[in-house]
Order: sequence, then C-alpha cells, then structure tokens
Amino acid sequence: MNTVFSGIQPSGLVHLGNLLGAINNWAKLSNEDSKNYFCIVDLHSLTAMPNKSDLKSSIKDTLKVLLASGINLENSVIYVQSTLKEHAYLSWILSNFCQVGELQRMTQFKEKASSFGTHSGLLTYPILMAADILIHKANEVPVGDDQTQHLELTRNIAERFNNNYGEIFPIPEKTSGKYGTRLMSLRHPENKMSKSSDDINGTIYFNDSKDVIIKKFKSSVTDSSNSISYDVKSKPGISNLIEIYSSIKNLEIKKTEEKFNDYQYGEFKVEVAETVISYLEPINDKFNNLGDKEVDEIIRNNLELARKSAQLTISEVENALGIN
Ligand code: TRP
Repeated sequence: MNTVFSGIQPSGLVHLGNLLGAINNWAKLSNEDSKNYFCIVDLHSLTAMPNKSDLKSSIKDTLKVLLASGINLENSVIYVQSTLKEHAYLSWILSNFCQVGELQRMTQFKEKASSFGTHSGLLTYPILMAADILIHKANEVPVGDDQTQHLELTRNIAERFNNNYGEIFPIPEKTSGKYGTRLMSLRHPENKMSKSSDDINGTIYFNDSKDVIIKKFKSSVTDSSNSISYDVKSKPGISNLIEIYSSIKNLEIKKTEEKFNDYQYGEFKVEVAETVISYLEPINDKFNNLGDKEVDEIIRNNLELARKSAQLTISEVENALGIN
C-alpha cells in the first residue's frame, strides 16, 4: 500500500489556492487505498519569521479547515509538525547526507534568501522537508511543481542514506498534476493566488462571505476578446477562471470551455463565483460546527498515530547508524 505525505504551511487565512491546489486534492486522495499523512508544517513557516499570534491562529485555522475539508480520517492522519519533535531530529541526521552546494542551488532558496535575508533556516529548509517525508517512509508526495526540486533532493538524500546504511527509506515519487490546480490571483492573473498578494481582491479566502466572493469575481481581471477559451499566455484571467470551475466540478478544461461557449464574461464570472460559494459552503459549515473538545480529541488521536509511525522509523535509523 502506498504511503502519502504532504505538508502545508500555516500562513494566514486558508485561501482558494490552498484548497484547490492542495487540500481538495488530499481529500480525494484520502478516499483511495493508501495511508496518508497530512501535516501543518509550522516549523517551515518559521523561516519567514511570522508574528506569534498570527502564527498561532493560523495553525489552528488551518488544522480546522483540514478537518472540515472532507479528508477521510479512516486512513489519514492530520497533525502539526512541531508537535512531533522527531521531524527536527531526523532533519539533523539527514543534514549529513546533503551537500551545502545542493542547498544553495535550490531556486526557492535563491528567491527567498534575497527577500528575507539569508539565515540558515532558509538554506536547510529542504532537509526538514526530506525529514517530513521520510519519517513516515512515504513513497508518494502530492505537491505542486514549485516543489519538484525539493523532492528531487529528498530522493538523493534517501538514496545516499540507503547506500551507506542499508535500505531504510523508500525513494519517494512526486504526484503532482494528478488533481491539483495552481490558482492565480483574480486581480493579477500572472501571479499565484496568495495571502501576500498586493491586491486583496485577487484572493478568495475560505470564509469570505457570498457577497464578497461575488464582488471579487466580478472585479477579476480578464481581457478584451470576449471568448471563454483556455490560453494561459494570452488569456491568463479567463484561463484561471476556467481552471477554478474545472477543478471544483472535476471537469476537463475542454468541457468547461464548451459549456460556457456562448456566455458573456460577466455571466461566466458570476457562475464561477456561485460554484465557488457552493464549494466553500459545506467546508465553512463544518468548520463552524467543530467544537474545541472535538478538535482536541482528533488532534490527540492523530498525533498518537503519527508518533507511532515516526518512532518506528527513527529507531530503525538509529540502529542503522549505531546511535542511541
Ligand atoms: N515546502 C512545501 C511548500 O512550501 C511545504 C512542505 C513542507 C511539504 N514539508 C513538506 C510539502 C513535505 C510536501 C511534503 O509548499
């Protein structure tokens, strides 16, 4: 049976890009025949030096969105990275199987190092990510294309460990493109939808009201050709709306194009907005109905499961290394 691991950083309110890019995907995967670990990777978030209370509420909200998103807890474990110290422990061990030059060549390191200044957390970030994946011996990692390099590094680290100390780790595969969608800002469709976007109206948050969602879609940037067809280069705005609709409805892009063939842009925007509203509604309902007690109990049970799995791997690793 496959073991799946994926992580999401708690960074502000969960938005539609997180949901359709990752979380929705996880919910679908969780109904397949695999064992899944979905982790809120708060230790990774520290590299951006978040404000304490923002981080705290973001961890809690992200956790509740995951619990409300339809992820099947029968075969999935949802937990917060910092509550399982073994991640950081394995990360240290794995750092000995990774060259400094490899880390310096990571595109994300180069990009982020320039905006946050260069602390070593940014440099070693991918080793922690390798530890996340390998600690549960995951062989499948659903992530976006921006994580391809990090996954490649994880594979190299795992191979090096195995070559030196025996076959402990599976070599994990990336499973992007299977379901996930990379959403773009509604206002600047050349940029990814994100909470740090320069135009707040470009991002749909999971708990935006109906009116706000309609307003944001109505003000989304399109083009002047008035044809609902998919062409990311020349029609990034319309293509993004097509992606959103297709992703929620599980429709091929071509089918969405056909369906809206004779629509005006205005009508199309409203229909996409309404689709998003009905997608978010049950998530919000569940989110709002999750009591603290219930959440605490789920967290406790899930952490226990994650801990068992992590400790098993750690003891194999320690035995292989001759420590502890
Ligand atoms: N680096 C990932 C991102 O920014 C988050 C992440 C951390 C992750 N650890 C992971 C993703 C392990 C997949 C597997 O999106």
